[in-house]
Amino acid sequence: MSQEKVCVPDLARMKAAREPITMLTAYDFPFAKIFDNCGVDVILVGDSLGMAVRGEDNTLAVTVDEVIYHTRMVARARRRALLVADMPFLSYQVNAEDALRNAGRLVKEGRAEAVKLEGGVAIADTVARIAAVDIPVMGHVGLTPQSIHRMGGHRVQGRRSGRNAGCRERLIEDALALEAAGAFAIVVEGVPPSLAREITESVAIPTIGIGAGPDCDGQVLVMHDVLGLYESCAPRFAKPFARLWDDASAAATAYVREVKARAFPAPEHCYAEARRASR
Ligand code: KIV
Repeated sequence: MSQEKVCVPDLARMKAAREPITMLTAYDFPFAKIFDNCGVDVILVGDSLGMAVRGEDNTLAVTVDEVIYHTRMVARARRRALLVADMPFLSYQVNAEDALRNAGRLVKEGRAEAVKLEGGVAIADTVARIAAVDIPVMGHVGLTPQSIHRMGGHRVQGRRSGRNAGCRERLIEDALALEAAGAFAIVVEGVPPSLAREITESVAIPTIGIGAGPDCDGQVLVMHDVLGLYESCAPRFAKPFARLWDDASAAATAYVREVKARAFPAPEHCYAEARRASR
């Protein structure tokens, strides 16, 4: 792993060199520091924070102020990784001016280096406006969680052929529209691997997959899914590389037990008494 700062142009270089891009979400200082130290190329402050951190059913209630709040924490920890902040629902769909102002806030106040928007053809003009003022834009197609009500849930997209929203040919058009509008990379979420491969081969910019099989130029996961930081089961595409929920539960249980038994704090956890003045 190179120690050098990862910048937007590096992702294109990695695609050309067929070097897989690694991306994880983070929402606070300690986890951002761990991921940065461990060589994660891109840290995303995702609007998944609504679900993963706040326990909501979907991402729709997340605000720009909340993404800024979390992005600033991550920015303080991050040294090497590229820092991308999500644009939450209705922060970019109303009009391009609004979108530009909100993207600017994520950069100025949150210290993000790029922003991510969900959608394709329908938001291409907005992507172009943001990219035109040199705020790098990452796109996001396929299962776009902000479209949960249209999709009828967090459902795999691109299984059906056609040009309607969420259909196979339309998703390829969406990716091409994002590239033409100046996006520097595209998250491809929740589609069959063959479609992710076709999108990856159709665009010159890198694709970063989640639940999209092995053929994207990189992979992204929500940190809670990687760390096993959930009580219920993880989605099929996610792999827990640790079991932090179990570890944290064991630690909290042991703490409760020791305090109740007056086993903690022990003498080694106590400060010494004040020393007597020597004569
Ligand atoms: O909000 C998020 O965390 C995301 C990733 C899952 C790509 O959009």
